[in-house]
Amino acid sequence: MASNKKLNSSLGFIPLLLSFLLQCHSGKSELQLNYYANSCPNAEEIIKQQVINLYHKHGNTAVSWIRNLFHDCMVKSCDASLLLESLNGIESEKTVERSFGMRNFKYVNTIKAAVEKECPLTVSCADVVALSARDGIVMLGGPRIEMKTGRKDSRESYASVVDDFIPNHNDSISLVLSQFQSIGIDTEGTVALLGAHSVGRVHCKNLVQRLYPTVDPTLDPDYATYLKGRCPSPNPDPNAVLYSRNDRETPMILDNVYYTNVLKHKGLLIVDQQLTSDTSTLPFVEKMAADNDYFHEQFSRAVLLMSENNPLTDDQGEVRKDCRFVN
Ligand code: HEM
Ligand SMILES: *[C@@H]1O[C@H](CO)[C@@H](O)[C@H](O)[C@H]1NC(C)=O
Repeated sequence: MASNKKLNSSLGFIPLLLSFLLQCHSGKSELQLNYYANSCPNAEEIIKQQVINLYHKHGNTAVSWIRNLFHDCMVKSCDASLLLESLNGIESEKTVERSFGMRNFKYVNTIKAAVEKECPLTVSCADVVALSARDGIVMLGGPRIEMKTGRKDSRESYASVVDDFIPNHNDSISLVLSQFQSIGIDTEGTVALLGAHSVGRVHCKNLVQRLYPTVDPTLDPDYATYLKGRCPSPNPDPNAVLYSRNDRETPMILDNVYYTNVLKHKGLLIVDQQLTSDTSTLPFVEKMAADNDYFHEQFSRAVLLMSENNPLTDDQGEVRKDCRFVN
């Protein structure tokens, strides 16, 4: 009996040993659904409530959460590196040129503070970025996305390499496709992600290249006249606040009007408009313009891929107390 018991308890180690070996093999553990089920069971609900409250106070916060996911996840990893403040001579990703126009960062702190109050040092800023984007998408009439959690926060910001990962407003579509491809997002997914430009705004400095000295021939002439009215100066003061809405018809709805607009030569950025002149992207634009459900399906798929780009897990990172500073 006694030796049997001993045998049983040593056999009990086998699954443990196996999972340990598996973890060594993959190098890190995976994200999982409801990662905080035991450590902070209300985490996802608290974040959702905060996103809803903020949306009712400042609707454009929901827009910001979507752009945050893109800027955080494309640059190396979904690790909240975006949110760190400049400190000790190390520049923040938030302050670089490609982050121009990003807003509402202070309300990330509001969300994080609500989570900290319930579960101190448990829920990462990277997961706040991911889940707030997920919930912001729903507030803007987009699809509901089941998203895994368990991301950890970086201990540094990567301002100096942002330009390698985040395309510019006037980059070629082939460069854009290859950048998304490098994090595992195919052409169809990339076309769907650009549909995020169905909401929000663009400042004049990102538009004037298409208006002055001559109007970009791929831009609808009446629309160009409208945009010149929004952006009357060819050299806008870089700090100026003049902008145009991305989608004048449904500016706060994440829908396929973006695609019908670009097909009508009413794309705002050069990259937006380029989607219709590239033979690999045009068929997807047409399909998304014709079918909002298909757009939402592809958008969900691609947002998930983006949100799982190279996460830090376990002790590869930390859980920041304040998303602006490493602990
Ligand atoms: C080729 C890739 C992309 C480029 C070049 C690009 C560029 C830009 C630019 C220049 C702006 C306007 C900034 C301003 O003037 O204020 C903008 C806004 C925005 N972008 Fe993108 N973007 C790209 C992809 C994405 C993706 C993949 C997402 C999210 C899934 C996204 C979400 C947004 C949102 C939501 C806004 C509006 C922000 C606001 O109104 O506060 N973008 N983007
Ligand atoms: C893209 O725009 C930037 C300014 O935002 C400008 O400096 C650059 O020359 C433009 N590139 C091309 C290829 O037009």
